[in-house]
Amino acid sequence: MTSTRVLTGITTTGTPHLGNYVGAIRPAIAASQDESVQSYYFLADLHALIKASDPKRVQQSRLEIAATWLALGLDTDNAIFYRQSDIHETTELAWMLSCVCAKGLMNRAHAYKAAVAENEEGGSPDPDRGITMGLFSYPVLMAADILMFNANRVPVGRDQVQHIEMARDMAGRFNHLYKGNYFTLPEAVVDERVQTLNGLDGRKMSKSYDNTIPLFSSEKKLLKLIRKIKTNSLEPGKPKDPETCTLFQIYSAFASESEEQAMRTRYAEGIGWGDAKNAVFEHLNAQLEGPRGEYERLMQDPDHIESVLQKGAERARAEANTLLERLRPAVGLGRFV
Ligand code: TRP
Repeated sequence: MTSTRVLTGITTTGTPHLGNYVGAIRPAIAASQDESVQSYYFLADLHALIKASDPKRVQQSRLEIAATWLALGLDTDNAIFYRQSDIHETTELAWMLSCVCAKGLMNRAHAYKAAVAENEEGGSPDPDRGITMGLFSYPVLMAADILMFNANRVPVGRDQVQHIEMARDMAGRFNHLYKGNYFTLPEAVVDERVQTLNGLDGRKMSKSYDNTIPLFSSEKKLLKLIRKIKTNSLEPGKPKDPETCTLFQIYSAFASESEEQAMRTRYAEGIGWGDAKNAVFEHLNAQLEGPRGEYERLMQDPDHIESVLQKGAERARAEANTLLERLRPAVGLGRFV
């Protein structure tokens, strides 16, 4: 039986926060429980090198992200969970794709264009100043990640949709040039229902705004950060508007419908911000303390994490090899005998 293949990568540049959890990790783990799909989730650590040149940070982030997904219950017998850098075939495929990918296509990538625009605005005489080949060919590596496993569906944020379209373009060109059905054309899946969370200052929660709440902060830190969430100056007793409230939004992402309704009522009744923050802390902490304990245990046991990832890499590489054994002769790089 052929099942739908769902694949996504997580760039390993930071510590997972509540926004990553609600927007990406939670839905991905839920989706991987669906028997009719085969999921591939990987740590995009080669992509991480583009943004980060601090080896310790990259290493630490890889461990934290792996521990997070495992602590939250990702079933690695079911989902194939691996590190991108363990699949050496990916870089080989990336080169083959580079050789069919128009440079002009890459010139149009949003991330590259944004970097050029920044240089131009800054008055630099060189529009490519500080831009590496890694950044420029980022979409080719990403296409290799996806096409390697013939993924049908790629759940991503809106900012990544263009990259999936570029992967389709490369797949189509390769199939056409080498006259075969080597690659499946992937589709981006942007789930509109998935919530995005705002951060401490009310802007989108993001590492780049430095406004995040790490998912597995200690209890003390979690309370401290929740108390920092920006609210308005309405006094206790005054009705408050949940719709424009970051605190309420964060609460809702962890609440059932009836819990959300009850909190709405408390807002209408004029709950004080101090009490509201304590209530949100209690609620989140109750949900997070189980996985937090597991996370802390896993972080102390890198051997276990390593072996889980090795197992994932073995499964992934078996498939990657099968594909490359078809691709090499197709492009003229097969064995002589
Ligand atoms: N570029 C993606 C991001 O920053 C991460 C990523 C790398 C990815 N390779 C991928 C996502 C392949 C989906 C499929 O979010």
